[in-house]
Amino acid sequence: MILSPSMLSSDFANMQAELEALEAAGLKWVHLDVMDGNFVPNITFGPPIIKAMRKRSNLFFDCHLMIEDPGRYIQDFADAGADLICVHAEACTHLERVCAQIADAGCKPAVSLNPHTPVESIKYLLPQLHMVLLMSVNPGFGGQKFIPFTMDKLRDLKAMIRDAGCDTLIQIDGGVTPENTAELVSAGADVLVSGSAFFGHPPYDERLKTFEAAAAQAK
Ligand code: DX5
Ligand code: ZN
Repeated sequence: MILSPSMLSSDFANMQAELEALEAAGLKWVHLDVMDGNFVPNITFGPPIIKAMRKRSNLFFDCHLMIEDPGRYIQDFADAGADLICVHAEACTHLERVCAQIADAGCKPAVSLNPHTPVESIKYLLPQLHMVLLMSVNPGFGGQKFIPFTMDKLRDLKAMIRDAGCDTLIQIDGGVTPENTAELVSAGADVLVSGSAFFGHPPYDERLKTFEAAAAQAK
């Protein structure tokens, strides 16, 4: 299990210190939530901030774009230093083209699905996706409650990936806690995003161990 802490719940005024603390605590990924106030009812940050963070961190930048028509900005995020770019299926009219754009820009392509979007919608894209993100809350804010039917969706996606013979990773984002970690990993989650259940619970090395111990309980 890879834990990808969401900077949305970090101290925005001390991003450098937060990034250094994550790296020192043994984290490998960091989740960057980009919101445009249009696709989701909240605004966060974009390529200039990610570029500034890139100068201070060697973590794997897992960029979750909650923006309309993200194809317009793929090159900007790649130039800013994104390692993985995840776009929402609901925000792209020509999703295959956007995934190809991400790969052409030298980043790992990923697609995110809102809670109500069926996993079948990305079935034919699986071979070209590094990761699929299943939203387990309606995107826009940290600290929301995990939507239970996501667990069924996760099992369906896992079976679909297995049947297709792909090695696409599954990421779960929203309402992830040490309490539901074992069930999520048992159902096939490879990467867990955690915002509010991670930040605010220092020291980060101990918090990482808590999530890892929970993941080790998976069946
Ligand atoms: C929500 C974001 C999440 C958010 C998760 O729209 O995509 O990444 O930070 O926060 P928690 O873990 O608090 O649900
Ligand atoms: Zn996210």
